[in-house]
Amino acid sequence: MKILVTGGTGYIGSHTSVELLNSGYEVVIIDNLSNSDASVSDRIGRITGKTPPLYIGDVLDEALLDQIFSEHKIDAAIHFAALKSVPVSMADPLLYYHNNVTGTLSLCRAMKKHGVKNIVFSSSATVYGISDDRPIGEDAPLSPKNVYGNTKLMMETVFSDLYHSDPEWNVTLLRYFNPIGAHESGLIGEVPEGIPGNLMPYITQVAAGLRPHLNITGTDYDTPDGTGVRDYIHVVDLARGHIKALQNLSGLGIYNLGTGRGYSVREIVNAFEEATGIKIACEEAPRRPGDLACYFADASKANAMLGWRTEKTLHEMCADSWRFAKGYYK
Ligand code: NAD
Ligand code: UD1
Repeated sequence: MKILVTGGTGYIGSHTSVELLNSGYEVVIIDNLSNSDASVSDRIGRITGKTPPLYIGDVLDEALLDQIFSEHKIDAAIHFAALKSVPVSMADPLLYYHNNVTGTLSLCRAMKKHGVKNIVFSSSATVYGISDDRPIGEDAPLSPKNVYGNTKLMMETVFSDLYHSDPEWNVTLLRYFNPIGAHESGLIGEVPEGIPGNLMPYITQVAAGLRPHLNITGTDYDTPDGTGVRDYIHVVDLARGHIKALQNLSGLGIYNLGTGRGYSVREIVNAFEEATGIKIACEEAPRRPGDLACYFADASKANAMLGWRTEKTLHEMCADSWRFAKGYYK
């Protein structure tokens, strides 16, 4: 089977391409390199022995999509291509709606034109937008709190409406919790642009000596140690969830991909220090506006219906994040 991976040179797309190739799928990548670089397809080739063709271009470019679907007999698409910064999305909503939502419409039109009706979509736990100390199930209310989250919910709506208009579509929406870690080869991983907004890329920059300390944003939450709790998932486990999703693609499916267990910021810092032997200087800082105290998945539906479960430990998430970052920043 041949899979079109949009955003395939990005963080999650590259790891998923590796797992696809290792599982015997053929991969074709389209990426406009707005947040990645072309060397990633060669790195995928070094890991798997198969370098996937990379079309450098935009999913907004329907002529290019037309060309790809004409040149390759694509069986399904996995749609990662999107912009993902919450603060930038608030500052420039038109950019985010255009890139993410219009880009998705463009992809769907091209798929429909070429009779390809199988898609797995990268959604996010950010669509829930609620704070609770219970695990979040797929039927929790949807109420994103920022423009990025709004684009994800809109894209989910596009896909589910498409399915309801034509049940020949098979659509799986995957709601990721917090991906961290990297491939054990150290060849691919997350490359943050500018000052990292997310926790693990910030920690690795402190470890690399690029930043003096980590600001722990909120130490007075109603959590066991006062710091925010999230469901961190190893990106390789997450990537493997896409293989399971493809194997079980049938009708409309919605799944959380998380470990089902939350860790606090302090627990992550401690685990990183243990895994790497590097001390992370920390300072207490105010809460980030709009942040939630505690957020973790009920992943039982993906466990039961997709036969998927996470295998990697927090230690591996930290060690693998650092192996990639160390090589990247040296
Ligand atoms: P990423 O930025 O590393 O990868 C996205 C890739 O898409 C990049 O290589 C970028 O160049 C490309 N891209 C963006 N817009 C494009 C366009 N219009 N046309 C072609 N290529 C385009 O991000 P990631 O962390 O790998 O995220 C992948 C997907 O998963 C995104 O849809 C993101 O919203 C979603 N997601 C990510 C997280 C996370 O924490 N990383 C969490 C939940 C959901
Ligand atoms: C963020 C995004 C969310 C996205 C998710 C996964 C926001 C508001 N939300 O959520 O849309 O789906 O990433 O990519 O940005 N922290 C620190 N210091 C830091 C950075 C973070 O203490 O420098 C804390 C945060 O307060 C939080 C935890 O670390 O408690 C995790 O933060 P982060 O990695 O940004 O993930 P989310 O907050 O879950």
